[in-house]
Amino acid sequence: METVAVTLDSVGGPVQVETLDLSEPLDGEVLVKMGAAGICHSDQHAITGQHGAKLPCVLGHEGAGEVVAVGPNVKAIRVGDRVALNWVPSCGTCFYCARQQQHLCSDSTERIWSGLLADGTSRISRNGDPILHYCGISTWSEHMVVAEVSCRRIPDAVPYEVAALIGCGVATGVGAAIHRGKISEGDTVVVVGAGGVGLSAVMGARMAGAERIIAVDLAAEKKHLSTDLGATDFVAADDGAIDAVLSFTEGRGADVVIEAIGDTALQESWLRAVRPGGTMVLVGVPSTSDETRFISADLIRSEKTIKGSYYAATDTGKAIDDLCAAYIQKRLPIDRLISKRVAIEDIQEAIDAMLTGTEGRTVITFE
Ligand SMILES: NC(=O)c1ccc[n+]([C@@H]2O[C@H](COP(=O)([O-])OP(=O)(O)OC[C@H]3O[C@@H](n4cnc5c(N)ncnc54)[C@H](O)[C@@H]3O)[C@@H](O)[C@H]2O)c1
Ligand SMILES: [Zn+2]
Ligand SMILES: [Zn+2]
Repeated sequence: METVAVTLDSVGGPVQVETLDLSEPLDGEVLVKMGAAGICHSDQHAITGQHGAKLPCVLGHEGAGEVVAVGPNVKAIRVGDRVALNWVPSCGTCFYCARQQQHLCSDSTERIWSGLLADGTSRISRNGDPILHYCGISTWSEHMVVAEVSCRRIPDAVPYEVAALIGCGVATGVGAAIHRGKISEGDTVVVVGAGGVGLSAVMGARMAGAERIIAVDLAAEKKHLSTDLGATDFVAADDGAIDAVLSFTEGRGADVVIEAIGDTALQESWLRAVRPGGTMVLVGVPSTSDETRFISADLIRSEKTIKGSYYAATDTGKAIDDLCAAYIQKRLPIDRLISKRVAIEDIQEAIDAMLTGTEGRTVITFE
């Protein structure tokens, strides 16, 4: 069959919207008709080369839709199922899966960066030449073949656009707040960068009972969105931002600071806003070659902890279930994170909108 999809042929772009060939799902694979797909900054990192994705590929790693065909030996997923797509499904048997760190699954990690499905080949092609599967799920496409294990069934009460965002930005931000920040009731939390991931960390901090949640962003437009999603304060990201945060805490600093941009200079400077004994969570991803430098004596004497946070920071399939439940229970106002909807043909407009820093999350909606 044919599908209209967004391809990236070389680092620097541009991305192109074109009609590609999609072959039938093979063993353990299913065909998904996409309902919605989100635009995450990690897709932009693939375009700039910051993340070194294998090319050419179909981009997109936030998506949800309906299963419209299944290949041989598909066990748990049926035609008609509504699913969110998971870019790190757990294999269940590797070193990490056996230790309840399923989001670090070595089997999945190896596969997603290869751009190939489990049998080592691709289902997508252009004039007979293979095109790779970004993150194993390539959601910027009307239809896509994915592994059965990449699908997580979702309740009818969760719209596709909400489920798509749960598939990366929301799971990542909430995971950074709850599983890595270990935010608890009464905490003071700073989230640096109020994009899709940062605003999800704000929602996660609110859900965890933080008392004060300070969102920091360059874009003044983020004030309204971040306070709407649970921030108690908004600080403009200027030279006085760290001092402003310190002044909220009698000079001590916050219990948890989450960096959700991926800028090494910000990672270094915002450590000053962490209180002694507190935690800095790094969830924004700089270029793979960038180094971040910290003064180790400061870390030792003040017992500050710096942690990375990857994807849901817990079993991602289970996280999708839990986040869907929290959305239905109105504890996570994910629909208010969506600030713009576009057709797939307008993908460049959506990427440009993200780069202005003024949007929450933009989603591609499919007919
Ligand atoms: N750790 C993970 O598993 C994981 C998963 C998804 C995304 N990410 C990363 O998280 C980061 C954020 O992704 P996103 O989709 O939320 O991006 P986004 O583009 O939606 O948001 C980025 C936000 O940062 C703000 N910003 C940029 N520079 C700033 C500065 N100097 N000071 C203050 N604010 C600034 C922008 O205005 C914008 O609001 C990216 O690096 C992305 O690759 C990591
Ligand atoms: Zn992402
Ligand atoms: Zn595994």
